[in-house]
Amino acid sequence: MVLGASEGTGAAIVRSVARDPGLDIFGAHRGNHPEAAALLERDVARAGRRVVLRGGDAGTAEGARLGVEALLDVAGPGSVRLFVHSLASASMGRLAAGSGPRVAPRQVEKTFDVMAHSFLYWTQALVEKGLLAPSARLLGLTNSLDDSLVGGLGLIAAAKGALEAYVRTLALELGPLGHRVNLLKFPTVITPAVRKVYGEAALDRIVATHLKMIPAGRMCTVEEVARFVTVLAGDAGEWFNGATIDYSGGLTLGLADLLLDPGRS
Ligand SMILES: NC(=O)c1ccc[n+]([C@@H]2O[C@H](COP(=O)([O-])OP(=O)(O)OC[C@H]3O[C@@H](n4cnc5c(N)ncnc54)[C@H](OP(=O)(O)O)[C@@H]3O)[C@@H](O)[C@H]2O)c1
Repeated sequence: MVLGASEGTGAAIVRSVARDPGLDIFGAHRGNHPEAAALLERDVARAGRRVVLRGGDAGTAEGARLGVEALLDVAGPGSVRLFVHSLASASMGRLAAGSGPRVAPRQVEKTFDVMAHSFLYWTQALVEKGLLAPSARLLGLTNSLDDSLVGGLGLIAAAKGALEAYVRTLALELGPLGHRVNLLKFPTVITPAVRKVYGEAALDRIVATHLKMIPAGRMCTVEEVARFVTVLAGDAGEWFNGATIDYSGGLTLGLADLLLDPGRS
């Protein structure tokens, strides 16, 4: 089950786990990318797996309740081996001071609902309905840039902090039931969310800065992230639990170097 299945990281993960380990797919999205969703359905079918993409807001408690009921209808109890939370919908703005608009309470609530609380709501509904398979893997996604903070993205960083706290607590609660709950931290990959956050005009500059920051000197891709998720979904991922797994390629390691060596910046 992948929330945010139609685009970006979620879509890449769907394609990857449909092939390896070969999972049927239940995905959620709001329907803003119908062509991408149709291509995804085609690719999963080509991999020989079943796919159900459900439209609607997955970022609320009610969305989770309805979504899990729909999943129960198509898949039955004990069927969810992997749950990936790949929703991206957030407000930007300063928190209290500085230039530009300040985030309003409604934006704070919505951002936390979609980016953090929905992970909890879906997990609660999955557990309540007995949908998790033995040794199920539950996975949240986060960005290594949240550690160093980017102007205007404070609300996203705060929601990711809440998501991390949910992951750790749920790992403790679901561990005795045999399940594993983790957070995967990876570097910037170019997706619709990233294009929206930074703006198309700034994209070349954003990529150029990343190329200086990342020791490997190249951008990470959604396919690389997705391939690693197949590892986490398999037996080799058994001992990750409550972890924030750093898959960031050392993105933030060279920040001080960039500041001290103007030739590189
Ligand atoms: N991109 C990066 O650089 C990066 C790096 C590290 C971590 N991450 C994390 O990875 C996750 C996915 O990000 P992304 O960049 O892959 O995003 P993306 O490409 O914009 O995809 C987001 C997906 O979520 C769906 N969606 C958004 N809000 C929804 C809602 N309320 N209900 C149902 N579906 C919803 C979107 O489809 P609809 O619009 O049709 O609903 C789309 O399928 C996020 O948690 C992000 O923080 C991203």
